[in-house]
Amino acid sequence: MTTLTQEQVHEEVKARYARIADESQPQVSSSCCDGDTSASCCDSISLYDIDTAWLPNDVTGLSLGCGDPITLAELQPGQTVLDLGSGGGIDCFMAARQVGESGNVIGVDMTAAMIQKANQNKAKVDLPNVEFRLGQIEDLPVDSDSIDVIISNCVINLSPDKTTVFRETYRVLKPGGRLAVSDIVTLGRFTPQERADMNAWAECITGAEDVADYVAAIKAAGFRDISVRDKGNPDVELSGTVSMGTPARAFSARVTAVKPHNQ
Ligand SMILES: C[S@@+](CC[C@H](N)C(=O)[O-])C[C@H]1O[C@@H](n2cnc3c(N)ncnc32)[C@H](O)[C@@H]1O
Repeated sequence: MTTLTQEQVHEEVKARYARIADESQPQVSSSCCDGDTSASCCDSISLYDIDTAWLPNDVTGLSLGCGDPITLAELQPGQTVLDLGSGGGIDCFMAARQVGESGNVIGVDMTAAMIQKANQNKAKVDLPNVEFRLGQIEDLPVDSDSIDVIISNCVINLSPDKTTVFRETYRVLKPGGRLAVSDIVTLGRFTPQERADMNAWAECITGAEDVADYVAAIKAAGFRDISVRDKGNPDVELSGTVSMGTPARAFSARVTAVKPHNQ
């Protein structure tokens, strides 16, 4: 079994999403869930509880998420929002409408072809309060203490260093700022052999972490009021769950946390 470096993981993930961006056609989705339905996020349901009908096909056709961070985020007019791994821009555009002209939205993605698609899509939606930046979520090109709400849709599971991702999110949030994230999380851990399968990793499966490890990384960054719930069973709080060992069951999670005012 070969252990990949973090850089190799980034390159493999980037190659997959560059290919998807380059091949994307309106109304042809290549979501994390296409092909493999082993993650319970893959219910072939409409991901969003809010209206997406106003979005052009070029935007909805490149929707690659596993949940609805926009509804989770409960955005207010005037807020500054950051989207981790913004892809073709779908969540940025919905967030931009909700925060209005007095607010703004920054989308960060490490895949240049995705940033290019997102900018092409921006030209079609007429939302000047959205900006896309090329960069890694482990090293955000964003000022400290500048963001009200961080959203993300099916991206953090792809990172080889989730501890650093949550440290970075904490850095850029204002005191009192919030995380509202949809992501794939597991109950139980993937084996080292499973984690070495880069195809499954890049498809948002084996990069996903056990809920206890995921919560530990959020807590270590300094966040409070951490909540992790299964999108398919949202009444049950999972943030206190002890690791289940293997095999892992992957699910689409709703994750929220707050950066406290007094750090
Ligand atoms: C599954 S897609 C989700 C895209 C978008 N959030 C959506 O819902 O359509 C994952 C995206 O995250 C980006 N990505 C993955 N790992 C990243 C990282 N470490 N830093 C920045 N972007 C990353 C990929 O380039 C890709 O565009």
